[in-house]
Amino acid sequence: MRFFAYDERREILVANSEEGGAIFAAIRFEALAREAIANHGFFSCALSGGSTPKKLYEKLLQPTYANKIDWAHVKLFWSDERTVPEDDPDSNYGMAMHFFGKEPLDVSQKFRMPADSKNLEKAAKSYDEKIKKECFNGRLDLVLLGMGDDGHTASLFPHTEALKKTKELVVANYVPQKKSSRMTFTFTAINQAQKVMVLTFGKAKGEVLKKVLAPDADPEEYPAAKVGTRDSPALFIIDEACASELAKP
Ligand code: 6PG
Repeated sequence: MRFFAYDERREILVANSEEGGAIFAAIRFEALAREAIANHGFFSCALSGGSTPKKLYEKLLQPTYANKIDWAHVKLFWSDERTVPEDDPDSNYGMAMHFFGKEPLDVSQKFRMPADSKNLEKAAKSYDEKIKKECFNGRLDLVLLGMGDDGHTASLFPHTEALKKTKELVVANYVPQKKSSRMTFTFTAINQAQKVMVLTFGKAKGEVLKKVLAPDADPEEYPAAKVGTRDSPALFIIDEACASELAKP
C-alpha cells in the first residue's frame, strides 16, 4: 500500500487489491465517523451507487469495523439516484439497503433521494434543503464516489447541464447517454464536503483516471476531474491494476 499527493487537489492511496482498497476505505470511514461524532455529535455520509462500493458497504457491517462505529449517530445520504422506485434493481438506495436496510441504522437516519418523484426539480430542491438542514454547517462529513469508464462521477456525466450548476447542492440532470434523468450532487456539494473518497479499481478505470487527473483535463469531457480542492483534497483509493495505467507515459 502506498500513499502520495498527486497534486494540490488530489491524493492517491494505492492498495494492493480491490479488497485492500475496501479495507482501507472502511478504516477511513470509521475514523472519519469517530472524528465527526466527537466534533459535532453525528457523522453525515453520502453513499455512492454503482457496484464498486458494495465491498466497502459489506465490510462496514462486519464486526471488525461495525463495532467501532457509533451507528446511532450516523446519517446516510446519497450522492445520486436514478429515477426509479427504491425496490427497482437500478436504485442506488435499494442497493445500499441490502447492507444498511436493517440494524444498526434506524430508518430516520437514512435520507433517500426521492428521484422517482413526479417533479424531479422540486424533489432535488427539497433534498438540497435537507442537506443544509441535517448536516453540520450544511456540509457533509464524507462523500463517497465512484467513477465511470467515461470519467463521470455521481450522475455528473460528460456534457450534461448539471456540470455547470454551482449555486445548488442537488439538481435534476437529464443524461442523454442513459436516455433518462437522474438526481445528483453538484460539484459544489461534493467539493464543500469535509472529505471526499473516490473508489476506483481495475485497468480500464486506470486508463480513464489518467485522463481525469491530467492537469489540462476538461471537466466537460471528464467530470471527475473537477473533484477535489486545495482546501480539501479528494482521496482516490485505487488498486495496483489501476495505478499501473497511471504510471504509463
Ligand atoms: C451511479 C453511480 C456512478 C458510479 C459509477 C461507477 O449511480 O451509477 O453513482 O457514479 O459510481 O458509474 O460505477 P461502478 O462502481 O459500477 O463502476
